[in-house]
Amino acid sequence: MDNSKFWTWFDQEAAPRLAHREVSFRKIFRHLDQFLTRSLVIVETGCVRKADNWAGDGQSTVLFDRYIQCAPHGGRLFTVDIDPSATSECKRLVSPGVEVHTEDSVLFLSKLAAQFRATGASIDLLYLDSFDLDWGNPAPSAAHHLKELAAISPVIRTDTLVVVDDAPCSSFLMIDDRQQATLVRPPTVSGKGLLVAEYAAAVNATLQFSHYQVAWTNMVR
Ligand SMILES: C[S@@+](CC[C@H](N)C(=O)[O-])C[C@H]1O[C@@H](n2cnc3c(N)ncnc32)[C@H](O)[C@@H]1O
Repeated sequence: MDNSKFWTWFDQEAAPRLAHREVSFRKIFRHLDQFLTRSLVIVETGCVRKADNWAGDGQSTVLFDRYIQCAPHGGRLFTVDIDPSATSECKRLVSPGVEVHTEDSVLFLSKLAAQFRATGASIDLLYLDSFDLDWGNPAPSAAHHLKELAAISPVIRTDTLVVVDDAPCSSFLMIDDRQQATLVRPPTVSGKGLLVAEYAAAVNATLQFSHYQVAWTNMVR
């Protein structure tokens, strides 16, 4: 089963504007293609807050909405944002079926997990992109994204793709007196994904890709 209508739109409209996220969004949608024989479930934290800000924020809610609209069996897209102006703009930019919530994401995800458990539902794609990152002090944002994962983990499966945005790798370099750089510590995931990556390593999750966005499967056993 294919989603060629989506891919035509993605290649023509989205990919040329996505900049550093193009490669990873392409991998995200390839992953979702394997679930097209049934209805999909996508859960996102941090909704689209500005029209046409493709290279800046990524327009994730717009992309996920389009994917579900084109999917043969449709699906449900949940998004949550703490800022009412963001959710109000999001509602203007996506189709009426998207379930847009205004709340702290950790609280929302904990309630959603309870609701999903009661109905036997689970998640195909978990996309974490809330709490804006301070590149000079990533810890508060990274901790928030780890809390999000903890809140929703009861309803993710081994083949759920868990993605964190704004999570490129960082490394430590030593510069000698001839201005030669030596790698002191190899690159590791940073930004919003700093602590989720530590968790993923601890549970031996499978890294699916690490670009500007990072993704794993097997986050639960
Ligand atoms: C980078 S933006 C999301 C961008 C969006 N994913 C896109 O691709 O266009 C981050 C959003 O997270 C929201 N946010 C910050 N703290 C939050 C929290 N505790 N719970 C939910 N959302 C939060 C902000 O209001 C902001 O709108």
